[in-house]
Amino acid sequence: MAAFTERMGCLFLAWLALCLALAQAVDRSNFKTCDQSAFCKRQRAVQPGQSPYRALLDTLQLTDSRLSLQLINDINKVHLLLELYGLQGNMTRIKINELKPLKPRYEVPDVLISDPPTRPLSMVSRDENGAVLALGPPGQRVIVSARPFRLDVMEGPQLLLSVNSRGLLVFEHLRERKDTLSHKISSTVGSMWDKMKSIFSSDTSKDALAGEGAEGADVPAKEGAEKDGEQEKDKDDEQPGMWEETFKTHTDSKPNGPTSISLDFSFPGVENVYGIPEHADNLKLKTTDGGDPYRLYNLDVFQYELYNPMALYGAVPVMLAHSPQRTMGIFWLNAAETWVDISSNTAGKTVFGQMLDYVQGASETPQTDVRWISESGIIDVFLLLGPRPADVFTQYASLTGTQALPPLFSLAYHQCRWNYNDQDDVRAVDAGFDEHDIPYDVIWLDIEHADGKRYFTWDPNKFPTPRDMLQGLEDKRRKMVAIVDPHIKVDTNYKIHNEIRSKNFYVKTKDGNDYEGWCWPGSAGYPDFTKPEMRAWWASMFSYDQYEGSMANLYTWNDMNEPSVFNGPEVTMHKDALHGPWEHRDLHNLYGLYVQMATTEGLVQRSGGVERPFVLTRAFFAGSQRFGAVWTGDNAAEWDHLKISLPMCLSLGLVGISFCGADVGGFFKSPSTELLVRWYQAGAYQPFIRAHAHLDTPRREPWLFGSENTALIREALRQRYALLPYWYTLFYSTHLSGHPVMRPLWVEYPDDATTFSMDDQYLLGRDMLVHPVTEEGSRSVTAYLPGKGEVWYDVHTFQKHKGAQNLYIPVTMSSIPVFQRGGSIIPRKDRVRRSSSCMTNDPYTLYVALSPQNTAEGELFVDDGHTFKYQTDSQYIHRKFIFANQSLTSQNADPKGQFSTPAWLERVVILGAQKPSAVTLHAADGSQSPLEFDFDAHTAVLTLRKPAVNVGADWTIVLR
Ligand code: NOJ
Repeated sequence: MAAFTERMGCLFLAWLALCLALAQAVDRSNFKTCDQSAFCKRQRAVQPGQSPYRALLDTLQLTDSRLSLQLINDINKVHLLLELYGLQGNMTRIKINELKPLKPRYEVPDVLISDPPTRPLSMVSRDENGAVLALGPPGQRVIVSARPFRLDVMEGPQLLLSVNSRGLLVFEHLRERKDTLSHKISSTVGSMWDKMKSIFSSDTSKDALAGEGAEGADVPAKEGAEKDGEQEKDKDDEQPGMWEETFKTHTDSKPNGPTSISLDFSFPGVENVYGIPEHADNLKLKTTDGGDPYRLYNLDVFQYELYNPMALYGAVPVMLAHSPQRTMGIFWLNAAETWVDISSNTAGKTVFGQMLDYVQGASETPQTDVRWISESGIIDVFLLLGPRPADVFTQYASLTGTQALPPLFSLAYHQCRWNYNDQDDVRAVDAGFDEHDIPYDVIWLDIEHADGKRYFTWDPNKFPTPRDMLQGLEDKRRKMVAIVDPHIKVDTNYKIHNEIRSKNFYVKTKDGNDYEGWCWPGSAGYPDFTKPEMRAWWASMFSYDQYEGSMANLYTWNDMNEPSVFNGPEVTMHKDALHGPWEHRDLHNLYGLYVQMATTEGLVQRSGGVERPFVLTRAFFAGSQRFGAVWTGDNAAEWDHLKISLPMCLSLGLVGISFCGADVGGFFKSPSTELLVRWYQAGAYQPFIRAHAHLDTPRREPWLFGSENTALIREALRQRYALLPYWYTLFYSTHLSGHPVMRPLWVEYPDDATTFSMDDQYLLGRDMLVHPVTEEGSRSVTAYLPGKGEVWYDVHTFQKHKGAQNLYIPVTMSSIPVFQRGGSIIPRKDRVRRSSSCMTNDPYTLYVALSPQNTAEGELFVDDGHTFKYQTDSQYIHRKFIFANQSLTSQNADPKGQFSTPAWLERVVILGAQKPSAVTLHAADGSQSPLEFDFDAHTAVLTLRKPAVNVGADWTIVLR
């Protein structure tokens, strides 16, 4: 039996490999459209303006910060309970559930970092039509209208947003199944239909293995019902796909019947919405009229296509609405499959059309309407009321936490491929970097390193002495990351499997057996990461005595955690699989977050809580920022994929996940040398930089493309390393504030409409603007430098440019257009080293870029780079640098900081300067000493030599 299973596994994998090799682009037929997803179709068929919901005002209760109110659906008479909470920090939470559900509905745990602190609400007025409540902030009110039910949030006379103003609130209540008989008939017809389709399908063998084939088996179910003429009063009960749904060969039993929910939100005055990653699409979201809604359903999409709303590996149900006047957000806390429709009354109108409207007086206020639809759970939505982009980030961070502070090495360069074959290969690649004088910090091992895809083990032939290998890396102050996927090979000789099975930790099928699916190892079980006991056990597997061959410089990569199930519906887990009492349907989008959470916990625990973890994940959800880094999955070596990496990471940053990168070079296919070089140059300025490539692609270590290109890649990576102090400081600030590291320009220039659709350039923090070259054969790029009255300095030439202009920049293969904002101070370490750890005590250079007012400011955060001591023992230095009145001062930004470092200041470079007659250093002990300096009149750059003060000290440098 085992041999048979093994053989089937091999056949399946061989077939899969063939498909992988032949396929060119995503096979869309593997993934549902809204029309093929019964609940989405049902919900989308509901037209605006016919809301059956009415608020029962006599049930209204107000207790301090909570308003509760029953809603009734006048058609089916089902009562809902609405709760509205005033939250501190200018947020409001709305929850809607059934008043008396037949059984509890899923409410997402473990995503909010705590119970959000509330703030009192007060009644302003009420009558038989509704009620008006004061929300707290001056002039802010919510108007509750009873018939039909809607909410309008006002600030003074201004309407900020409306809820259910289009009447798209739909709450499918739990119900007993009434039509058991007709269901039996229709499902029998349905499965016969399936069988016939697969018999007559030309590709049956493939179908049987991979879930290809028959579609829309709900069609005969519907026809059957119609033929029977069964028209029930409650017409909810008879729509197709409510109690069972078939997609291709997979039937989703729906023991709970229809459970979906939907709600609409309108933003008057808003024309720009962003967020709801993960989609391979532009930063500014598009209207979805006439197409599919944006889908949020964590999926392993093979060879994903660009510029469409299809679901990808991760899902963050957070949307930002932006206008020059206001920025707001919606956080839809639901982990089930979700679709988001966007419409706008100005979409598609040309500027001319809009002007014509204006001239003719026919212009209406622009408005964006969105409709959220989820398959199950409850409506639990946070309105983040801004008013500025920074406020929305703070608000969202107060709910779900901020980006974990990465260990410093993880901001440096990562070298990966599927696969580095054996220890010799690792050694050779590692040595290659030294031979070619290219810095790198981490080498990665993909699935082939493990013994037969049994994670936590090593292939005994290829990696016989992992500790020696890790020690070799450690000797060079480098690290390794090895993959640990969540699918566990079903093999009674595999300890991990045996333990999970014996502890009953696997996800179950609807019938209560251990759920099994196909993945890399063949037949695999899927640990139930939603169980805290399971996560604790998983974490314990990372301890050095459990994970044999591991050492402190080995970190972890969680892949395939959507979860990917090769033979499952849409390549993922069956929705009727069980996690204790809950269906997979309820929490699908959370699975990946839990995997990373448990893994992170493991890495923390193995060091006794001292060391910061590094875990990369492919699947994610709201809150994943607390656990590490994400990447954009299996992209391709194509120019458009390089381009899309910008908006994909920008979107993630907007919703809290700052530590984002894309496979440098592209995962599938082989990049041209030009594309590879450009990708390194772009990647050097993205938060997570890792080269990665598919197993079947030719090798592409940076030195394989001729010395000229090696030099270009070396230079790009050196720029990355030099800026590590800036990156680290930015991440610290993000860790504190939740503001993105990589920012769309509108975040800092919210009034400048030129920036609203821009996603080919971005800011790192406030002070660095990057416009990577992402077009083949580019001779120039045009970058938009924002900020009227501001100036920007080219970081390579130090040339100064005025803000609020499109700047034409001629480029060569060595160009990476990057600008520093006048008014900023950026710390760098300009000495070239092998890895970031070798730079620990290296001296700093401050780049002071003067504003037109001759001022500048900047910060520096320093700690040991790898432990939690910055938190537990205040072991950090946080400096603030200020340039004003011809003096540069270093102040302590946070007197609690206790850390000390031998690192000193070796140089100060002042851009946009004038020549001083003398420069004096005033040290903390009161001593004064002259500083040597150079002034380049041509570039207006003043370089101060060797201040030689400790970087943690107070000092002032005075120019005369
Ligand atoms: C899929 C991942 O996205 C890719 O990066 C990895 O190389 C393969 N799985 C193999 O583990």
